[in-house]
Amino acid sequence: MTTPREPSTLRAELLRRKPIRPPSSGSGPDELRRTIGTFQLAAFGIGATVGTGIFFVLSSAVPDAGPAVVLSFVLAGVAAGLSALCYAEMASAVPVSGSTYSYAYATLGEVVAMGVAACLLLEYGVSAAAVAVGWSGYLNEALVNITGIELPQAILAAPWDDDPGVVNLPAVVLVGLCMVLLIRGASESARLNAIMVAIKLAVLAMFVVIAFTAFDADNFADFAPFGTAGVATAAGVIFFSFIGLDAVSTAGDEVRDPQRTMPRALLIALAVVITFYVLVAVSAVGTQPWQDFEGQSEAGLSQILNNVTGSTVWGTVLAVGAVISIFSVTLVVLYGQTRILFAMGRDGMLPPVFSRVSPRTRTPVQNTVIVCAVVALLAAFVPLDHLVDLVSIGTLTAFIVVSVGVIVLRRREPDLPRGFTVPGYPVVPVLSVLVCGYILISLHWITWLVFAAWVALFLLLYALYGRRHSALARENA
Ligand code: ALA
Repeated sequence: MTTPREPSTLRAELLRRKPIRPPSSGSGPDELRRTIGTFQLAAFGIGATVGTGIFFVLSSAVPDAGPAVVLSFVLAGVAAGLSALCYAEMASAVPVSGSTYSYAYATLGEVVAMGVAACLLLEYGVSAAAVAVGWSGYLNEALVNITGIELPQAILAAPWDDDPGVVNLPAVVLVGLCMVLLIRGASESARLNAIMVAIKLAVLAMFVVIAFTAFDADNFADFAPFGTAGVATAAGVIFFSFIGLDAVSTAGDEVRDPQRTMPRALLIALAVVITFYVLVAVSAVGTQPWQDFEGQSEAGLSQILNNVTGSTVWGTVLAVGAVISIFSVTLVVLYGQTRILFAMGRDGMLPPVFSRVSPRTRTPVQNTVIVCAVVALLAAFVPLDHLVDLVSIGTLTAFIVVSVGVIVLRRREPDLPRGFTVPGYPVVPVLSVLVCGYILISLHWITWLVFAAWVALFLLLYALYGRRHSALARENA
């Protein structure tokens, strides 16, 4: 007969923390290879961030705020920037793969890390599927514009979609392409992503230059027709376009000199993204009265270019740029998900299949196949419009955990070497928690309910598997 477990033992188990170790060499047979430098890593951050949001969400946010949407971009950028600074410090102090999951494991304990893993599955896995579904719509639009050929509805949408089809085939093809790239190697994926990032920034720069030729300051006259409330509402919508910077922090095991490279790449990515977004917002609003944005959301920036130039050529170039941009968002987000699960497999929170590295490609092949198969199935058959709020709730919770983690680690291990420290400590992490918390409480209660059930499911998985297989428990035994 087994004796009941001592409550204090259970508590110690749930709260056990993973010691912070120096980065691995990256040359062992079961280790990922360190091939990524600052430039490619910054491109990861930009690649995962600049996508659907700036190309398509801008137009739907203008009617909420009027020309003051420019301030909404700054506000959302500040919110994302505060947590990006916290990520930069944590990434320099805990230089491993796994992002917030690994940071929570090092600071707040095993059970919190498992809860965070549930959030990250929403931020990465579910959003990869949602972005792939969006991509198939944009691909179809670009195809119609360029060739006049429209793909049949049966292969463009999931069966229970508002506009139903049989299977979302382009989304499956996109995830399949990303899978092949990710299996071939992290450095190959990083290289291709850097090219796609260069294209997307060039296309946005083209937009800014063309839009400024039609700039009319009168379009800013009625600057904030809905006051601060409008600015805040639009900032909530726009926050989505800043999600992704933290993908940098999933790559800790494959980055050269991670303690310096990771914070640098994060800050470069943040600066580039904010600069481009504000320029695009100012130039777009300058081209037409804000009321004209109503109903433009589907065509977004393309339509503005068509109006300004009187030709469809530039709008088409932009649409192709958007297709390439969203490809790179999907690639990096899928990469991030595999590396988070890799870290969990290594820690014994998931079966070892997730941390097995192929001796040939030095990538987690089985992990990548499982992740891509699940994401492809989701994208193919599940209507995902309703899941977007879940992506936000998971992301914001992860941001809060990182900000709290910075404070906990500063107090607990003040002398730990850090390649970067948050300026204005403790104001920045505290503000980050408050701003993310503010956006969180505005989400619908149904989103909260589904989120709570999802996290509970993960904690059940922990109770049944992770708690018994924890590598840390074995080390301490
Ligand atoms: N920030 C990413 C996008 O806008 C999720 O597509």
